[in-house]
Amino acid sequence: MRLVLLGAPGAGKGTQAKMLIEKYGIPQISTGDILRKAVADGTPLGKAAKAVMDRGELVPDKVVLDLVEERLKQDDCKKGYILDGFPRNTAQAETLDKMLQGLGMPLDSALSVDVPKDDLLKRLTGRRTCKNCQQMYNIYFSPPKKDNVCDKCGGELFQRDDDKEETIKKRLDVYEAQTAPLMDYYGKKGILKSIQGVGTIDEIFNKVCAALEGK
Ligand code: AP5
Ligand code: MG
Repeated sequence: MRLVLLGAPGAGKGTQAKMLIEKYGIPQISTGDILRKAVADGTPLGKAAKAVMDRGELVPDKVVLDLVEERLKQDDCKKGYILDGFPRNTAQAETLDKMLQGLGMPLDSALSVDVPKDDLLKRLTGRRTCKNCQQMYNIYFSPPKKDNVCDKCGGELFQRDDDKEETIKKRLDVYEAQTAPLMDYYGKKGILKSIQGVGTIDEIFNKVCAALEGK
């Protein structure tokens, strides 16, 4: 399975990708996660990306394209991959197509997870993540048993720097202007599938799998 997950900030791309990894045994490539790790590690890339991410804007195309190309060349991608949060605009999508052609591993599907804006806001403001194992929670929908403590490993939970209300608004605007047009892009290629991302996480996962397996 060679897949792009499309969807607004907070649509549940990361949540569903984690479940797809388990079911299909293929890696998730999240440009957001790779960039946040670079920020946490204090690398030159992380230092340059942090301010842009905190403003809710997109980091330069060349930066993410190089990251993705390097990751796709690793052995575990030979059996498939899930691209999460990439591509983010038409220029990235076009370059990705050429890159995948060159690597002999073109996309089979682009799956769009559609969620109304009010739900997105609540999902993003309520999101908390474990510093240690990256398990995700939501204080409104799936809270940890003990405030700010991970149920799985006891690690401390944190809120992403870009999950502040002002930045969320900017991220949603950037999504509408730059990323939403990709639905048309993949629609024209005949590989777009769409599902409504409303309901429980498990209900949505069933819809995701049914769409991907053509059921
Ligand atoms: P990125 O990390 O990709 O963030 P995003 O696209 O804004 O998406 P999110 O990760 O916020 O949402 P998600 O869809 O993964 O939702 P999640 O599963 O976490 O990008 C961050 C930044 O990095 C960008 O702004 C940009 O600066 C930069 N960047 C990244 N890629 C780039 C690129 N290609 N080009 C340029 N710049 C790039 O779920 C959210 C919450 O909802 C969680 O709390 C979860 O528990 C909860 N939830 C999930 N499903 C449900 C449900 N069904 N019901 C209730 N709650 C739910
Ligand atoms: Mg994510």
